[in-house]
Amino acid sequence: MWALPPFLARGLRCHGIVAGSKDWHKAVMIASTDINSSTVRLRRSVLSVPAGNVRALEKVPGLDCDAVIFDLEDSVAPEKKVEARDNLRRLFKEKPLQGREIIIRINPLETDFGRSDMELVLEASPDAVLIPKVERISEVQAVADMLSDAGAQDNLAIWAMIETPKGILNAAAIAGTDERLQCFVVGLNDLRKETGVPPQPGRTYLVPWLMQAVLAGRAHGLDVIDSVFNDFKDAEAFDAECAQGGAMGFSGKMLIHPVQIGPANRHFGPDPQAVKEAETVIAAFAKPEAEHLNVINLNGKMVERLHLAEAEKLVAKARTIAERKKTS
Ligand code: COA
Ligand code: MG
Repeated sequence: MWALPPFLARGLRCHGIVAGSKDWHKAVMIASTDINSSTVRLRRSVLSVPAGNVRALEKVPGLDCDAVIFDLEDSVAPEKKVEARDNLRRLFKEKPLQGREIIIRINPLETDFGRSDMELVLEASPDAVLIPKVERISEVQAVADMLSDAGAQDNLAIWAMIETPKGILNAAAIAGTDERLQCFVVGLNDLRKETGVPPQPGRTYLVPWLMQAVLAGRAHGLDVIDSVFNDFKDAEAFDAECAQGGAMGFSGKMLIHPVQIGPANRHFGPDPQAVKEAETVIAAFAKPEAEHLNVINLNGKMVERLHLAEAEKLVAKARTIAERKKTS
């Protein structure tokens, strides 16, 4: 049977996407808007919250992050997994988590923990389920099949952690697995552990692997989220790493602490000067004389129609952020 390639299907499904349909989740709205029929999704700041930490869970409704990963995996001790799932059930029932994307990170599916986590995912219907330590296509496929077999909505997405040597090497194949797959999250703590590359300013020896993950994800229309930065008290080094991540093409950063949200939003959000320039590009292409031109001269600089699409995306992103500020 003829089928759209996953990245095209994914793009189409994203138009007008709304969050999960379960009662507790009705009030959740994805941070997105429509401009010229393209949907803009913000994933600048993706905060990980250990599901076993009630105090941290209670803080979530008041935080200005674009997405929250409720973690059932590595931040939760084995003997706390049941309690952590119960915490999430309670939180989702009691507190509508408006205005951000909700993700649950499960344990590997081949463990009992992972299978119980998937039961919670099916019950809670978050925006996405995050699979840890993905190394093979079959791991994404298994979760996709479980979701489909259980009748999960098409817009319940899959995110994949790319955090092992095999994960990096197979990232291109993994990225094209399934149309539910929307996002890669790179994890450097595990990758450093397995490769022996120590933390270093500038991440010199890790950059090629990071770029490989970005390229693989982008080739299939995925967003790619940069790794956590552990030293949350070191604001200067965090700033530098966010700037680097933005320059490398990441959509945002996975965070471990609320103090990291503001800097991540700033670094991965549109630069005001770039937004101004984008508006100039849009205005120039809107002129009647540009209607049939694919390339124009804008104050001595060549601008192509592909730049128009980029400019529209940037302006839409800035508008989404401004609208969210107004309503929060
Ligand atoms: N989400 C929400 N709230 C958080 C938070 C998080 N990730 N991390 C810290 N907070 C809260 C704390 O509960 C605390 O709240 P309080 O003032 O009401 O007591 C406040 O922010 C200040 O926290 P602080 O005292 O600076 O840190 P901490 O000792 O409580 O926590 C960590 C430090 C690293 C243990 C904690 O930030 C954490 O667990 N982060 C996430 C780890 C994770 O998800 N790992 C897996 C992915 S790599
Ligand atoms: Mg990990």
